[in-house]
Amino acid sequence: MSLIEKIEGLLSEVKDFKAKAPEEVESFRIRILGSKGELKKLFGEFKNVPSEARKEFGEKLNELKTKAQDKINELKSSSDSAGQSDDFIDLTRPSQSAALGSRHPISVVRNRILDIFNRIGYTIAEGPEIEDDWHNFSALNFTEEHPARDMQDTFFIGPDALLRTHTSSVQVRVMESQEPPIRVICPGRVFRNEAISARAHCIFHQIEGLYIDKGVSFADMKQNLLHFARELFGEDVKIRLRPSYFPFTEPSAEMDIYWGLESEADYRITKGTGWLEIMGCGMIDPNVLKNSNIDPEQYSGFAFGMGIERIAMLLFQVKNLRLYFENDLRFLNQFKAAL
Ligand code: DAH
Repeated sequence: MSLIEKIEGLLSEVKDFKAKAPEEVESFRIRILGSKGELKKLFGEFKNVPSEARKEFGEKLNELKTKAQDKINELKSSSDSAGQSDDFIDLTRPSQSAALGSRHPISVVRNRILDIFNRIGYTIAEGPEIEDDWHNFSALNFTEEHPARDMQDTFFIGPDALLRTHTSSVQVRVMESQEPPIRVICPGRVFRNEAISARAHCIFHQIEGLYIDKGVSFADMKQNLLHFARELFGEDVKIRLRPSYFPFTEPSAEMDIYWGLESEADYRITKGTGWLEIMGCGMIDPNVLKNSNIDPEQYSGFAFGMGIERIAMLLFQVKNLRLYFENDLRFLNQFKAAL
């Protein structure tokens, strides 16, 4: 067999070569291109080739060299990528970090308020969202004809079942089940039959507070609420108590905080007064104590109630109530820093 035939044989071998594993490619490379391989041996034959045939021999050898090299490169790169997709696991690669969520602004405000009252001795109490007439209305001194009992304001779901319209119902449940002294703070969802708009929703959140002991006065209430306002809005906050009416308190008041009148927005939010109402409060009506078997001759107390959305709107300056309910991540992600 002439040398040229030998090269032709190797060329067709290169052309047809297939490998199942990377090791086969490597041993093929050593056999053809290695330092003791076929190519090396053929180059060694150069001196024996007659000078007129050397050109053709040299060209054939070069062809064999490049084709063998190309084939090996091709087989290597395809086995590399196949290996990676099938069973290549890079254990040193940093993992993808899990995206951290953020608390909902309503939870943020709720937790801040609960925390302030917890620190001055109030414990948390919760009650059912589905209530009966007694706990939502009658025990709280609502008369039979009180407009809040109207279908237009309350979602009735059975002969004596309704969705609570305020967390004041929890007051009653606590008074029925605990002996004074009582100091509780009651967060929860409440429901009213209202059309949804930027300023009203049929579901919202309230926090109710209740304090009953011997000799509790209006001054005690004011001091507790002033402390609360300072903790939430800052040391310099001013409060005022305006006379008001609720069936379950006597006397009743509404508490305003001084918001200021520096910008046009302040004028708009406070309707030009500088003051903003943030909660209702009052001394618990003796009838309400009696309804829950607490002797009004021995005990007195105060109660207060506030809307969490309203306070969140003030703290975060977000005026459209609907944003609090839509779970739009573009809105919620803005509260990452608020804990
Ligand atoms: N329940 C009242 C409401 O939903 C808020 C309220 C006012 C609660 C005065 C109280 C209170 O405990 O004393 O509007």
